[in-house]
Amino acid sequence: MKKIREVTLKEIKSPGGSLSFFEKGKEINFDIKRIYYIYKFCEQNRRGFHAHKELKQVMFCPHGKIKVEFTDGRMKQSYLLDDPTKILVIEKGYWREFVSLEEGSILFVGASDVYDEKDYIRDYNEYLKWEEDNNESAI
Ligand code: TYD
Repeated sequence: MKKIREVTLKEIKSPGGSLSFFEKGKEINFDIKRIYYIYKFCEQNRRGFHAHKELKQVMFCPHGKIKVEFTDGRMKQSYLLDDPTKILVIEKGYWREFVSLEEGSILFVGASDVYDEKDYIRDYNEYLKWEEDNNESAI
C-alpha cells in the first residue's frame, strides 16, 4: 500500500490551543477542490464501501477516533485516526471502509475534484475487475 501515506503533522502549541496544517507541494500533491465531512456517525456502523477511479483525497479526524480500512483486492491496510495531527494522503483506486470507534467522531476529507458519481465504484466485484484491468496497485 505505497500509495497511501500517513503523515504526522506538527502541533503548534500556544496558550490558546493547538494548530496543525498541511499544504500542497509538501504533505499533499494536489489542489483541494472540495471539502466534506462525515459526522453523527452511527457507532460501529461501517460506511464507505466504494473506490474512486481518479479522485485523490486527504483525510483526518479532528475529533474522536475512526478506523479507516483500504484494500486493492489483494492486500488490506488499516489506519487509526485518533489524533488531529494524523492525516492520510490517499491516491486514486483503493476500496475504503470507515468505522467510528468513538461517539462524536468526525471524518474530514479534502478531495482533488468536485463530486462526480461517475468516479465511484460501489460494487466490490466490479472494483476487483477494474483494479485488475487498470493495474493501479503499487504493491
Ligand atoms: P458517499 O460518498 O457514498 O458516503 P460514504 O462513502 O461515507 O457512505 O456519499 C453519501 C451520499 O452523499 C451519496 O448520495 C452522495 C452524496 N455526496 C454528495 O452529494 N457530495 C459529496 O461531496 C459527497 C462526498 C457525497
